[in-house]
Amino acid sequence: MKKNRKIETIAAQAGVGADKAYGAVSVPIYTAAIYRYERFGKNRGFDYSRGENPTRQAAEIALAELEGGSRAVAFSSGMAAISALMTLFRAGDHILCSDDLYGGTYRLFEKLLRPYGLSFDYADMGDPAAVVKRIRKRTKALFIETPTNPLMKIADLKGAARIGREKGILTVVDNTFMSPLLQRPLDLGIDVVVHSATKFLGGHNDLIGGAVVTANAAVGEKIAFAQKAIGAIPSPFDAWLLLRGIKTLAVRVARAQENAGALAKFLSGHPAVGKTFYPGLPDHPRRELHFSQASGAGSIISFELKRRKAVPAFLGALKTILLAESLGGVESLITHPSTMTHADIPLEEQAEVGLTPSLVRLSVGIEDRGELQDDLSRAFRKT
Ligand SMILES: Cc1ncc(COP(=O)(O)O)c(C=O)c1O
Repeated sequence: MKKNRKIETIAAQAGVGADKAYGAVSVPIYTAAIYRYERFGKNRGFDYSRGENPTRQAAEIALAELEGGSRAVAFSSGMAAISALMTLFRAGDHILCSDDLYGGTYRLFEKLLRPYGLSFDYADMGDPAAVVKRIRKRTKALFIETPTNPLMKIADLKGAARIGREKGILTVVDNTFMSPLLQRPLDLGIDVVVHSATKFLGGHNDLIGGAVVTANAAVGEKIAFAQKAIGAIPSPFDAWLLLRGIKTLAVRVARAQENAGALAKFLSGHPAVGKTFYPGLPDHPRRELHFSQASGAGSIISFELKRRKAVPAFLGALKTILLAESLGGVESLITHPSTMTHADIPLEEQAEVGLTPSLVRLSVGIEDRGELQDDLSRAFRKT
């Protein structure tokens, strides 16, 4: 790994140099499940692809460099990555999480892991003093999203890192919404970054993947052990798709963000729209905090329709913007978090954090901005 490369260069050249045999610029897709030993007791670094695979390894090296970590471990999905991370904890341990968490993460924590004896609490991670008050004797980790999905709440990453250091608590950031192009939590003192690589890193809505990146190599080894033991690995083809997606990360993120900035302005001034949640807007309550730790506002905008009953007709009238449950890809997608991505969170808990049935989440893609705005205008008119 070369030091001091700019992130755009790291991304564009992801995987370059990995093929030692022929110097292939695009890493070959090693579909081989097994590797022959040179002789008894000696292989060439690979033996069985659940443990190590050259294409996956190239993706992991690129992910570590992108996030500035010492080790990255790739998984078959973002949820597999978070599940592997959770093997670091033991029954009785307590994990304090952002209070507006992706619904699938909440489902894993509450429905699958709580019965194993882990406990989870949810707090506003933008207020370090409030976070400290919620820490218990058995608190072993802070699990943070910033901006949160879908309410775009901002956590204080430097504050969290300080608390983590002082109290000996592992700090974890789900960096899916920002991507390493806009936010590098490990540079701010955070211990671990997780990703749904399905989103910005892959970028083309053609793969499901995940990653854990650690600042500390020993923690990375534990995650790699979990990867091998559990076996939730991406296929070599998906690892290759991920590398291929990463190569255009910088241009995709920049273009989508430009589009999103303009659309957020349009939406926040539209008479059919209630609140608009986007850290790039001047009235976002933690805009300053966000820009102290990230270099851009990103391309996800959540907004409420003033008339809740208009939501189905509005979503049904969109033509260019696709009604689909993901984000971070080249195509603009819209979802209704309350009934789609966050449906596993009980309605009362949704209401407690401010997630209402009038809220929709727009992931802005790289299409023509005028066409996207026209699509929204037309759909508003129809409602
Ligand atoms: C913030 C965040 N984290 C994690 C995940 C889970 O990732 P995956 O769908 O790749 O398992 C998602 C999926 O939407 C997400 O939005």
